Amino acid sequence: MASAKAAGREIRRCVRFILDDEVVTIKHPDPTRTVLQYLREDLQRTGTKEGCAEGDCGACTVVVAEVDDTGTRLQARAINSCIQFLPTLDGKELLTVESLRDANSNLHPAQQAMIECHGSQCGFCTPGFVMSLFALYKNNANPGRREVDEALAGNLCRCTGYNPIVAAAREMYRESSDTEDWRYQAGDGQAGKDEKRRIAMLRKIERDGPLQVTADKRQFLAPRDINALADLLLQYPSATLLAGGTDVGLWVTKQHRVLDTIIYTGDVAELTRATCTETHLEIGSAVTLTDAMPLLLEHYPSLTELFIRFASPPIRNAGTLGGNIANGSPIGDTMPALLALRTQLTLRKGDETRILPLADFYLAYQETALRKGEFVERILIPLPTHDVRVESYKISKRFDQDISAVCAAFSLQLEGNRVAAFVAAFGGMAAIPARALNCERALVGQQWNSESIAAAMNALDEDFTPLSDMRASAAYRQQVSKNLLQRFFLASGSARSAGVYHYGR
Ligand SMILES: Cc1cc2nc3c(=O)[nH]c(=O)nc-3n(C[C@H](O)[C@H](O)[C@H](O)COP(=O)(O)OP(=O)(O)OC[C@H]3O[C@@H](n4cnc5c(N)ncnc54)[C@H](O)[C@@H]3O)c2cc1C
Ligand code: FES
Ligand code: FES
Repeated sequence: MASAKAAGREIRRCVRFILDDEVVTIKHPDPTRTVLQYLREDLQRTGTKEGCAEGDCGACTVVVAEVDDTGTRLQARAINSCIQFLPTLDGKELLTVESLRDANSNLHPAQQAMIECHGSQCGFCTPGFVMSLFALYKNNANPGRREVDEALAGNLCRCTGYNPIVAAAREMYRESSDTEDWRYQAGDGQAGKDEKRRIAMLRKIERDGPLQVTADKRQFLAPRDINALADLLLQYPSATLLAGGTDVGLWVTKQHRVLDTIIYTGDVAELTRATCTETHLEIGSAVTLTDAMPLLLEHYPSLTELFIRFASPPIRNAGTLGGNIANGSPIGDTMPALLALRTQLTLRKGDETRILPLADFYLAYQETALRKGEFVERILIPLPTHDVRVESYKISKRFDQDISAVCAAFSLQLEGNRVAAFVAAFGGMAAIPARALNCERALVGQQWNSESIAAAMNALDEDFTPLSDMRASAAYRQQVSKNLLQRFFLASGSARSAGVYHYGR
């Protein structure tokens, strides 16, 4: 790496990770070779399956373990290996379905429970389900039905009808044994000897400096700090920035794009942190959705359903809030809510930083205000004032793992019954995620009642001329946007949010 700021730190020129207690070193990995291709084609480790190659079916699910922020525990998360590029494994431990047996070839409780409960028929989806169950087992010692459903939302099965698999999710805790083996300890109790041993192994392959691997004149660069990232983007302004890869991965697996230079943000310390100031949540652009959303929900619990319905745990474990914003899709799910919350972005180019309202970030279809060499550094979300009501509703054909036809978000501040402030923002209604300014104008200063809502619903016709596509017709979108505003109005008298997802343990 040419950067002076990287000087003094060793550049790693190979990828190193742990698999089955061994350190694996790969000298010249193809920067966009997926973890799945590596497992199946290079190692002939074929337990992990390929179904869709786009993060939808879960057949390729593996678990990645890393040392957590406290430095004392391992964090295990399921990801989709079909869209994860191999160099992103550097410094981590990879676990596949073959990794779960113990030294005496006993099956893991997640595997044994699948057998006991007849959770497998043709078996194609089974390794993926086992790995999602393993991740659940490691992260939750006593999940309720809702948590089981959520943990399995990214795995599809054509055969079983799911009940036996859900039963296996309960049964696996009865299969537990008292071993020191980290894989066999349910939930996040005390760190045992085996967990400490694994952490020590990971410490040995940690790196302070950047990663730079090349193959066939294509390169994968992974800086460790923000100055090095800013320098690299000046040096390679046309590089592809990679965060979780849940969009970029598909450019390769589905569109067969060749990416010459990839700059990975996932190892940049400053971008993977989130803090709460007196006025804002400040979320680094490489914080995963899994880590970012609980912070947001602590302050805006009414957005819980939006989070649960965003893709699946493996996608949220890799994908980031920054990637969702920067991708610039008109149907991204977090943008309407972030617009309604009057979010701002910190953008950085070289040594220069500027703050831009999210509302000014989107210029045209998949075109943003980012300049060449500039990147999203942080997402600044204002903390709520006590009297603001915020809701977001997603309309899609399936409940889980589906892209929105329309996504709406509203934020309302009343003084008495008069509307003091109101923001309405939509995805799926235009070429960009956008506020409905005519609708907002129709309400601000008015009484919050059915007459003013009716006028605001009509004003939505002036705000948007949506398209028809495979997800919804233009007429449907126009109508549903109005209905969602009405839903928000009808729910505004109730303490409860107007989501569609209500069931207990
Ligand atoms: C199966 C599946 C289901 C999905 N479901 C949903 C869903 O329900 N709702 C939804 O909204 N989306 C969904 N997505 C899309 C995707 O998961 C999200 O957009 C995600 O937030 C992208 O984040 P990422 O970190 O993976 O981005 P990446 O793929 O790494 O990057 C996305 C884009 O952002 C750019 N970028 C990344 N970081 C920065 C930065 N710091 N500065 C500037 N540019 C940057 C990249 O160059 C790229 O253009 C789904 C995707 C899949 C595969
Ligand atoms: S192969 Fe379908 S999610 Fe990876
Ligand atoms: S057992 Fe056949 S797809 Fe699940």
